[in-house]
Amino acid sequence: MYRSHNCGELNASHINTEVTLAGWVQKSRDKGFIVWVDLRDRYGITQLVFDEERTSKAMLEKAQDLGREFVIQVKGTVIERASKNPNMPTGDIEILVSELTILNEALLPPFTIEDDTDGGEELRMKYRYLDIRRNPVKNSLMFRHKVTQEVRNYLSNEGFIEVETPYLIKSTPEGARDFVVPSRMNEGQFYALPQSPQTFKQLLMVGGLDKYFQIVKCFRDEDLRADRQPEFTQIDCEMAFIEQEDILNAFEGLTRHLLKEVNGVVIDKFPRMLYDDAMRLYGNDKPDIRFGMEFGELNEVAQHKDFNVFNSAELVVGIAVPGGNAYTRKEIDKLIDWVKRPQVGALGMVYCRCNEDGTYKSSVDKFYDQEDLAKWAEVTGAKAGDLICVLSGDTHKVRTQLSALRMELAERLGLRKPDEFAPLWVMDFPLLEWDEDTERYHAMHHPFTSPKPGQIELLKTDPGAVKANAYDLVLNGNEIGGGSIRIHDKETQALMFDYLGFSEEEAKAQFGFLMDAFQYGAPPHGGLAFGLDRLVAILGGQETIRDFIAFPKNNNGRDVMIDAPAPIDEEQLQELNLALNLKS
Ligand code: AMO
Repeated sequence: MYRSHNCGELNASHINTEVTLAGWVQKSRDKGFIVWVDLRDRYGITQLVFDEERTSKAMLEKAQDLGREFVIQVKGTVIERASKNPNMPTGDIEILVSELTILNEALLPPFTIEDDTDGGEELRMKYRYLDIRRNPVKNSLMFRHKVTQEVRNYLSNEGFIEVETPYLIKSTPEGARDFVVPSRMNEGQFYALPQSPQTFKQLLMVGGLDKYFQIVKCFRDEDLRADRQPEFTQIDCEMAFIEQEDILNAFEGLTRHLLKEVNGVVIDKFPRMLYDDAMRLYGNDKPDIRFGMEFGELNEVAQHKDFNVFNSAELVVGIAVPGGNAYTRKEIDKLIDWVKRPQVGALGMVYCRCNEDGTYKSSVDKFYDQEDLAKWAEVTGAKAGDLICVLSGDTHKVRTQLSALRMELAERLGLRKPDEFAPLWVMDFPLLEWDEDTERYHAMHHPFTSPKPGQIELLKTDPGAVKANAYDLVLNGNEIGGGSIRIHDKETQALMFDYLGFSEEEAKAQFGFLMDAFQYGAPPHGGLAFGLDRLVAILGGQETIRDFIAFPKNNNGRDVMIDAPAPIDEEQLQELNLALNLKS
């Protein structure tokens, strides 16, 4: 038996008990005649004491030689501590050690294994197994386990069945590039790793399974950010014989359950917002509604004077920054520099101070009088003491820029509180999105999404205006899930591929299996997928998903611990028929 107890459970009620513990040496304090060692395992820390008088000199010397992170086993008696530590669950006791076994020695770790470590991110990723010993990482993984378990319980109780779908498949278009896997047995041919199990879950509906879910790895070769990993996990779900309302209710139920069980937060009905309104009011399809600062469109009250910058703009739009009139001129200049950074891309920013005495002072006083500025304040909802920030230009760009400013200011003002939860459904997304690079329309969600009833005809005349039966679930300004009601007949699906620029042959080659299946009695169906990593991170009060993934990749998509990706040898290349392909 390696241990009778763990390092987190002993307390005053165990005094005089003989125990065996095993774990890692967190640190030790050597007073010469007495040594204290903090012994750590997954469950906590227990203090050990080695004392020349009460045990033996040999034992004391052995303890003095223990290094950080040595793996040891001790036998001893639980005794009351002379100086208690009320901040630790085991703080009332210590173990007077009678037997010490070194199970394994350890090199000095490259960073301190404590809650606040001196290790930088890259170093910690290289030695992730050491990082996992630290409470913040360990707790995040345990938190993820809890969320995952709650998801499985909830969905199983609701009659969903978990089905595994294959990883070696053909491309599923979710908007990113595929990771591909060469086939040794089929020369010159490749599998794609799934960007999502989209087509398979639809086929499961054709198969009559009715309510499916899967906690599943997805792979997307796309640029990485704090909330994106090349491999990530979805809670993927699909239902048959449902309408949009059924899907929203089912997964609002799941999210509500998680908020209650995991965070102890009870939220009634989730608000819903049309995509168009989200863009107009927040410049963003995933608005953080924990705070106000809604956009005020100022065209009507700012384009009647001789200020050409505004007059030539498609959209003039502003926000009121609460208490922003307190900013000094220098601080405002810094804000202007911030919006002019290439990452934001605004050409400039007009501002208007709302003084406590009800007067206004703007950076464009030459053009606008007090009456004009009062209207700006009315439209943006600015009060005395606020600052109005105004951007202008092309509608889409300017909304994106002001949205970035809104989020930045909210962050600085402490309005994005991690323990406050504001879920929101964003509904009726456009079916198609214009892509500047390829100069073509792309499916905004994916090509299996159905247009709103009666809008299919619009595809011919005004494709950009067609709305989809598509919805996203947003939590605290992050898209945590998205889905749609699907097309379930071959004709509409073929029409959709046609509008998306697929030739009949291309559509048949890539998705013939799905359209074939639609001819054998496909039920009406729809679903959604949550990003599990994002969901867990946000429920955990953070936005960086890396901390909630055991072995994440860095921003270049590398696993720096195992050093992947890596070249493969010539022999393997030849076996995969790749050497040949590269040369030809
Ligand atoms: P979508 O592409 O919106 O939908 O993905 C669903 C959710 O997955 C999360 N997500 C990611 N998380 C981490 N890293 C990434 N690279 C990443 N990409 C996406 C997001 C997102 O909301 N098949 C459809 C779902 C459906 O229609 O049912 C799909 O995959 O939280």
